[in-house]
Amino acid sequence: MRSSRHRAIIGFILSIALPFSAGCAVQNQSANVIEEPALRSISPFPIGSSIRYLPFQKDLRLQSLQKLHFSSYTAGSDMKMHQVMPMENSFDFSVVDSIVQHTEDYEQRLFGHNLIWHSSTPTWVKNKAKKNPEWLASFMREYIHEYVGRYRGKVHGWDVVNEGLKTAGSGYRTDSIWYETLGPQYIEMAFRYAHEADPDAVLFYNDFNLERDLDKFESMMSMVGDFQSREVPISGIGFQMHIRMDIPNSIIAETLKRAADTGLQIHLSEVDIIFNTHDDSRGGGIQRFDTLTPEMRVAQKKKYYDLVTIYRKVVPESQQYGITFWGFNDRDTWIRRFFDMQDWPTIYDDNLAPKPAFWGVVEALN
Ligand code: XIL
Repeated sequence: MRSSRHRAIIGFILSIALPFSAGCAVQNQSANVIEEPALRSISPFPIGSSIRYLPFQKDLRLQSLQKLHFSSYTAGSDMKMHQVMPMENSFDFSVVDSIVQHTEDYEQRLFGHNLIWHSSTPTWVKNKAKKNPEWLASFMREYIHEYVGRYRGKVHGWDVVNEGLKTAGSGYRTDSIWYETLGPQYIEMAFRYAHEADPDAVLFYNDFNLERDLDKFESMMSMVGDFQSREVPISGIGFQMHIRMDIPNSIIAETLKRAADTGLQIHLSEVDIIFNTHDDSRGGGIQRFDTLTPEMRVAQKKKYYDLVTIYRKVVPESQQYGITFWGFNDRDTWIRRFFDMQDWPTIYDDNLAPKPAFWGVVEALN
């Protein structure tokens, strides 16, 4: 935890480094400078971005933008199991505690991403579960109880299970130690344990391609419908919304509308919009566009505008849990590192200046 003196110094530096006037766009004709409005002050719902805490700590410009724009904070990876419990029987809550402090200082909602995800399950858990399958259910219960319980009242909502469905098509993801060991029941178990640990937390099922793969979407809907009919404590659906420029607006609108018809909270939880494509696996980028042209920037503005407008239109206000970008600048985007390709998926450019996409979001929020 930072000392109050340390925080006061950071605050002083930020007040110098941050000459933005929150809430209004100001065009300074002589200097030809446009100061961007604070997204959080024009957004009718919580608006957030994922952040990687340690690099963020060293970057004052990033901090000032994060403070200016966002009312919600999602950890890029700092709250995943491999970070929080890298070794057997030893929780490491140090970074999460700092994040809690940060969100309190900046009056941001902290969203917990995530509790159970095949991809962030540490090797020691997988090995132990293979040797001793009975152990995994009790481990899951203890892990969730201790973690969610510790941050009760501090973490507003959780992605309880992330990506529990197959990458493509219908059915559960079977290449997961949780599914292999416990069967599909692990998903509802996780929701029940999270609810026991914090009855007020908003509990999400979160996945990708729900807005484009209709078989996957139907699998999600029947799982959620089943949970609702049996009172499994689910409170929301997270659409990661890692989309591509050519995903049709009509199918995005239709799937969001049907998801909202469940009455649950709807979170666009990891928004970014790429031009190139990939096969959904690490290193699987397929490079079609090498440079970002002015026309592409304008087209991307329209797509961001459309996405936010669709969300506002088809999801009732009371179910708008918010929109979270998966990183908000092209310099740091996970897309380049993860898929090993060049792209420009976010609302700020490589120099941390707002792109037309940023203004698309502003226009849709206004
Ligand atoms: C990503 C992080 O951004 C990367 O830094 C990390 O290497 C892999 O995970 N869906 C999710 C997120 O739910 O947790 C992923 O985050 C991106 C895809």
